[in-house]
Amino acid sequence: MATQPCSYNECSFCGMYRDKRFRVRRIEELRAEIEWARERAPGVRKVFLADGDALMAPPKFLHEVLDALRAAFPQLRRVSCYASPQALDVRTVAQMSALREAGLTQFYLGVESGHDEVLRRLVKGVDAETMIRVARKPAEAGVKLSVMILLGAGGPALSLEHSRASAQVVNAIQPRFVSTLVVTPVEGTPLFEEAMRGEFEEMEPAAITRELRAFVHGLELDGTVFRANHASNWLPIGGTLPKDKDAILATIDAALADPEGAPFVPDAWRGL
Ligand SMILES: C[S@@+](CC[C@H](N)C(=O)[O-])C[C@H]1O[C@@H](n2cnc3c(N)ncnc32)[C@H](O)[C@@H]1O
Ligand code: SF4
Repeated sequence: MATQPCSYNECSFCGMYRDKRFRVRRIEELRAEIEWARERAPGVRKVFLADGDALMAPPKFLHEVLDALRAAFPQLRRVSCYASPQALDVRTVAQMSALREAGLTQFYLGVESGHDEVLRRLVKGVDAETMIRVARKPAEAGVKLSVMILLGAGGPALSLEHSRASAQVVNAIQPRFVSTLVVTPVEGTPLFEEAMRGEFEEMEPAAITRELRAFVHGLELDGTVFRANHASNWLPIGGTLPKDKDAILATIDAALADPEGAPFVPDAWRGL
């Protein structure tokens, strides 16, 4: 863990780091942990820098961590981290580029929605225009970007607008990877309180699947890996776009035509 937990910490749905103050860990602590890991697993090839927003840590610190990782793990191929829109705004392309050269080659960004009203309700802290602007920076720096879209984030009322606008924003970003997750009100978050008060309505699997269909239908991507197979999705599907778009839509249509036969993941399997 390079930082704890997230510098922004306001998103209404995100319970992962609530009530914890952001701090960058001391490099000595990290060096000790890296040494501990090297003794047990010297062949490590992939490292993820936790927590929720490691890109917000000062570049000098990140370079120290990356140098220590490269020295400890000769077979290291990929270091990745979460990057909030706020961190992507603060970091320059030159900084991202230097970090990429030091081994930080992939960021994960929660776009969540391309619809301004949905983003506002999620308290994501940016609108769609800003999201597109900051999300284009990693590609300029040669860093791969993986974006996440939150199905159900607009509730039933904004479902269609949310899916269409999200596809448009993802098209404008042209990320290397895109995945969908189903929003889950987690206890202790504002979204959970909204759900309790009846202000946020969770969607049924069939409605989520229709939303997923509208989202995929709207995607115009030029070589992006798409996944909808996170544990919080009901219908596990994926492929490369545009090549597999028709096949993905056909799978979704088959599930909608025969919900009984569809591989909807049971409630017990869901979770983050
Ligand atoms: C740990 S967060 C880090 C994201 C990063 N800080 C950012 O803002 O881009 C990773 C992703 O998990 C997903 N996530 C978080 N809380 C969720 C929830 N309650 N239901 C479904 N997905 C959730 C969101 O897509 C979020 O972007
Ligand atoms: S989604 Fe990302 S930016 Fe928002 S609170 Fe969670 S970790 Fe922080």
